[in-house]
Amino acid sequence: MNGKTFYITTPIYYPSDKLHIGHSYCTVATDVMARFKRLQGYDVLFLTGTDEHGQKIELKAQEAGVTPQQYVDQVVAGIKELWNLLNISNDRFIRTTDDYHMESIQKIFKELYDRGYIYKGSYKGKYCTPCEAFWTESQLVNGNCPDCGRPVVDAEEEAYFFKLSAFQERLIKLYEENPHFMEPQSRMNEMVNNFIKPGLEDLCVSRTSFTWGVPVTFDPKHVVYVWVDALSNYITALGYGNDRYHDFEKYWPADVHFVGKEIMRFHTIIWPAMLMALDLPLPKKVYGHGWLLLEGGKMSKSKGNVVDPTILVDRYGVDAIRYFLLREFPFGSDGLFSNESLITRINADLANDLGNLVSRSVAMVKPFGGTLPTERQPEPIDEEILSLARTLKEKYEKHMEEYAFQNALIEIFKLISRTNKYIDETAPWTLSKDPANHPRLATVLYNLLECVRIAGILLTPFMPSTAPRIFEQIGAGPEITSYESAGTWGLLPANATVHKGDALFPRIDVAKELAALEAAKAAAKEKATPAKKAAVEGIASLISIDDFAKVQLRVAQVKSCEPVKRAKKLLCLQLDDGTDTPRQVVSGIHPWYEPEQLIGKKLVVVANLKPATLCGVESNGMILAADAGENDVKVIFVDDTIPCGATVR
Ligand code: MSP
Repeated sequence: MNGKTFYITTPIYYPSDKLHIGHSYCTVATDVMARFKRLQGYDVLFLTGTDEHGQKIELKAQEAGVTPQQYVDQVVAGIKELWNLLNISNDRFIRTTDDYHMESIQKIFKELYDRGYIYKGSYKGKYCTPCEAFWTESQLVNGNCPDCGRPVVDAEEEAYFFKLSAFQERLIKLYEENPHFMEPQSRMNEMVNNFIKPGLEDLCVSRTSFTWGVPVTFDPKHVVYVWVDALSNYITALGYGNDRYHDFEKYWPADVHFVGKEIMRFHTIIWPAMLMALDLPLPKKVYGHGWLLLEGGKMSKSKGNVVDPTILVDRYGVDAIRYFLLREFPFGSDGLFSNESLITRINADLANDLGNLVSRSVAMVKPFGGTLPTERQPEPIDEEILSLARTLKEKYEKHMEEYAFQNALIEIFKLISRTNKYIDETAPWTLSKDPANHPRLATVLYNLLECVRIAGILLTPFMPSTAPRIFEQIGAGPEITSYESAGTWGLLPANATVHKGDALFPRIDVAKELAALEAAKAAAKEKATPAKKAAVEGIASLISIDDFAKVQLRVAQVKSCEPVKRAKKLLCLQLDDGTDTPRQVVSGIHPWYEPEQLIGKKLVVVANLKPATLCGVESNGMILAADAGENDVKVIFVDDTIPCGATVR
């Protein structure tokens, strides 16, 4: 331990079972950095988590016919599994639905209010529901949300506002005095030109049109705006405003927040302003990494390439995927992902360069029975690899400290390629034929093993499962695989003993593999249906008959039905439930039903559900529908002879 702390975070993810390899990018990069810092001896805190509140989740839960809490519990379990699969070594996992976090958010909101930075007003503006973001007219692109390009809606309601405009000057000063506050540097110009220069407006930080959020303690019909809730995770996870953790003093301010470029705005404007208002120190750096794209645009699970991280890890192993992500794309820029580039990279760098170097170096110790003799015969030709190996750690460290993962890996692979060339130059298989050449052979082999040791140490953060396998094969124990030892040549004992192992990365046949990937994708799709059902069934715990009796189910007839404006998935139904008053219900079934397919039909409604407002329309109850397969929903229609209002039990 070097006595220093290092606090690093990923964004907290929206609960989604559609996380793709692009989503994994940030978390893998953060993990590599956390492991690197631990290797250097830092006391590291690596935080990740999930961002679970907001209208989007409320709607998704409703579509799935479960409560928002049930919905997020199910999806978050899948996200944790994915991070496990990718060997993510986070120290904490925060959920914004955790009690301690919600308690802190309420205190933070109140504190900002008491300090005069939050005030009550009326909101009129443009709101993007999928992004949960408010925009000013001037920020819209062709009238649409500048982030996702989807239409925005007019919204007006009583709301609390954060005095963001009061921080304009202080933010400019922050950027001027700390030119490295944002990386890469280009992001700073983007923020200043697009957001700061046009003038910051106060930010609407509460909502009354839905309830799935943290209630404002002093005005509970308001819930806290999701970004205020989400950004604060970086301090609530340390115990700020709660008793769950006690290391705010120790770790705050964060050394770096890793975030995707599209959420830089929130992290470099709103977040520092909130911290300034709370009189708290600011994070030292926000790194906005680029996006992984597919040819033709954004990444999504439905497009041509296989982007499902579980399939990719299953086929190539976790370390190959981790390596590829950080080697293929410069961290700060966008990159094009394709299955072909992934396989080509694995073959060239991992199967050929690294894998061959390790297996050849180890195999060639065989004439000595696996243990090197100690007599040596150095030659001038050795100097080049020795000097490359001796200086590698320093170059690597410089790149790592700058978050230039790609360059750090390029340096390691320069040594690996040069070492492979050294094998060709020294031809150990010829040396082995004549015992007189054995001192020279032992020298060459020792040099190879030392290069492998040094490269292996520096690869550890990127390939935490492969590095120990390398060390095992070259017989390097923990005392000579520490980070420090990568800077010293000659630590392997002169009589090193090797252990032949399996190939680290088998070579892949590109054409066959691309076809097999397609098949794996189709199989995963097929499997998804029962898995989804099982997961949903798995949520339910046993309830008593009394609990069931609390749910009042009634037969009702659809009298009229129409789409809810600006909400693609919602239909608004007027039902005759046997009472004198028509019952209005909003349901997320528009993807599967047009109004005319419903009008006149009888169905079952949950009659005693508390009213909710969905996209500005009040809903009194819920209609029953079944998950009829992947992405298919069927309303439960009932026999036409059952009278409206009949109880279902
Ligand atoms: N919940 C917010 C973050 C709140 S942080 C206080 C959010 N969540 S997200 O699930 O949409 O995105 C999580 C991260 O994944 C973001 O950093 C985002 O940039 C990243 N990525 C999503 N798709 C990506 C790619 N195709 N490529 C690289 N990163 C991508 O935003």
